[in-house]
Amino acid sequence: MKKIKLGVFPGDGIGQDVMNAVLPIFDILKLNDFDLIEGQIGWECWKENGDPIPQETWDIIRESDACLLGAITSKPLEEAERELRQELQGQNIKYVSPVIQLRQKLNLFANVRPVFDLSNEKKYNFVIIRENTEGLYSGLDFLNIPFSIQEEIHKNPKWAKTNLNSAACTIRLQTKEGLLRLFNFAFSYAQEHNYRKVTFADKPNVMRESGLFAKKILEEVSSQYPDIKHEILNIDAIALWLVKRPEQFQVIVAENMFGDILSDLGAGIMGGLGLAPSANIGYDYAYFEPVHGSAPSYVGFNKANPIAMFQTVALMLKHFDFYKEALFLEKCIQDVISENRHLTPDLGGTATTTELSGEILTRLRKYI
Ligand code: NAI
Ligand code: MG
Repeated sequence: MKKIKLGVFPGDGIGQDVMNAVLPIFDILKLNDFDLIEGQIGWECWKENGDPIPQETWDIIRESDACLLGAITSKPLEEAERELRQELQGQNIKYVSPVIQLRQKLNLFANVRPVFDLSNEKKYNFVIIRENTEGLYSGLDFLNIPFSIQEEIHKNPKWAKTNLNSAACTIRLQTKEGLLRLFNFAFSYAQEHNYRKVTFADKPNVMRESGLFAKKILEEVSSQYPDIKHEILNIDAIALWLVKRPEQFQVIVAENMFGDILSDLGAGIMGGLGLAPSANIGYDYAYFEPVHGSAPSYVGFNKANPIAMFQTVALMLKHFDFYKEALFLEKCIQDVISENRHLTPDLGGTATTTELSGEILTRLRKYI
């Protein structure tokens, strides 16, 4: 079998802690088909080079099949400029979040965030698929609204007299190509993972034209999957039902910002950011990361919960069809949680990152 090349980028803050916690998995499970290539990414790279993704890291990405990411620190533009190496300051070098660079340059259009019940109740198990490249985060966000757009807005009687010189606007761009690939991904994900329903989270009663456009494309795609039901629900109603009855959902698909918000809610339902994994998938590449960020206030205390990163490795293993290993890893994580003796402070325990990950790894060593 051809080796799977995997970039390993711990990044910043607790990204380093949680990455160190999971790397032994590859030896313990004898995952010899993976070739790990370590590289740098994140805030230190920005300060030094004026780009959080150095060229050497792009080279690793180009020659690899996927990468595993810890977490990355991002700061507002002014702070970013201030922390840049002296020689690079004043040159109008703009900070662009590496996460956004990866998603856009590699066309990783599907952000997959599974949400499952880690308690013994096993009440819910669903996945949120968020569009990653267009929608409300297309980058068409204007402080000085271009004249041609002002003209369009003024054609609408409701806004005809509005002074658009002191206004801002954002365009929710959704292309047919973008929606087709998103819905196709959602339905085929449902089929592969034995889900029977796809829920599209939108707001068609308010955003009527774009809602109708998306609905038609959804129906076109769904006709190719007769065994899978579909529905369109208002995004706000979904937020309510996710809290009240999360068990009613299977696959939820949404445009960029709606999906962003729902997936943080999903992490909350699971019990916090320390538990939630994610994948960013395109046709040619994929990267896997925990949902949480670099949690600067946790740095140096060895108390970050590594479970989200363990779940992320499980998700990555499934992506490459290492199901047996992934399921065993998930079982080990579940056993440690159910035992309730070695949990980190975010889950009400007193264990360190090292202790909790040590417990999972000890169970993992029983793998045959
Ligand atoms: P964050 O996820 O880093 O932390 C928020 C809070 O969640 C923490 O203070 C902590 O209470 C809790 N938390 C997060 N991860 C945890 C873990 N593994 N174990 C236990 N508790 C955990 O989000 P925040 O504070 O908004 O951002 C901090 C930095 O991370 C920023 O620079 C931000 O830009 C970056 N970030 C990066 C992301 C990425 O790499 N994909 C995603 C989100 C934020
Ligand atoms: Mg978010």
